[in-house]
Amino acid sequence: MVKNAFHLKETAVALYEDQKVAAMFRPLACATLDAVEITETDVILDVACGTGIVSREIHAKISPTFPIHGVDLNADMIAMARHVTHDRPGAFEWHVADIENLPLPTGQFTKVFCQQGMQYFPNEITALIEIRRVMQAGGQLITTIWGGASDFFIAMSDSVSKHVSPEVGKRFLTPFSYKNADKLTEMLGTAGFGAVTRTILMVDRTIRNPDTSIKNEILGHPAGLQVLDAGETVVQAIVQDIANACAKYQVGENLVVPQRTHMFIATAT
Ligand SMILES: C[S@@+](CC[C@H](N)C(=O)[O-])C[C@H]1O[C@@H](n2cnc3c(N)ncnc32)[C@H](O)[C@@H]1O
Repeated sequence: MVKNAFHLKETAVALYEDQKVAAMFRPLACATLDAVEITETDVILDVACGTGIVSREIHAKISPTFPIHGVDLNADMIAMARHVTHDRPGAFEWHVADIENLPLPTGQFTKVFCQQGMQYFPNEITALIEIRRVMQAGGQLITTIWGGASDFFIAMSDSVSKHVSPEVGKRFLTPFSYKNADKLTEMLGTAGFGAVTRTILMVDRTIRNPDTSIKNEILGHPAGLQVLDAGETVVQAIVQDIANACAKYQVGENLVVPQRTHMFIATAT
């Protein structure tokens, strides 16, 4: 069985969708789509699609002629993607599959999106070769990968390290610890892509109702259950530490914390 380095259990998927997608993944999807030209005749694939926020934003923006395909290794993520799109029959096709073995025909897609998935693939070149296989020549791959942790997640990691354990605390930085950004252009070349552009996007993470949603941010992470096991007093101490560390980001009732991401756009040769 393929190991999923970002595996959320069913309950955490609901928190991911309600909290993290609203706070960060949807704004990132919108910022990415602002930077890319897509048309309704594009044939679109969203890999490591999670609950499908990139696909949903594309559908809202251009209503493509062809169904948008989304693939994720986690069946619970795909179940949520199906659930939140059931009112748009025929618009999406969702697949549970590993990036290294896509259940899709060769040479089909003109745009492939991979939002915050690359850092979890066990072998980027194998993943990129498989993505290239399903693309048309001249198609574009658009991938974003966090460029370092924001102060919010540094505070979360520090506090979990103090109250739970350094091992669990470190896990909260995993999504932001991708080491191969400087090698990705070369890896894309090896996998059959060219004309690679690399830019930085800054996107705000907006944490509404911090009293309740900081806890949901913790529990919507794959290591969240280990924090929950430490008990409610510990959870509340961590929430308080994070709120104190991020007080300078208070805007009205919300916390608004900037987050840096790499965006690579590459053309299938
Ligand atoms: C941080 S989430 C991002 C999800 C989505 N793109 C979004 O923006 O909300 C990373 C996703 O990568 C998926 N993933 C991890 N390894 C994978 C693999 N080998 N093949 C396909 N999906 C994978 C996880 O299940 C998870 O849904």
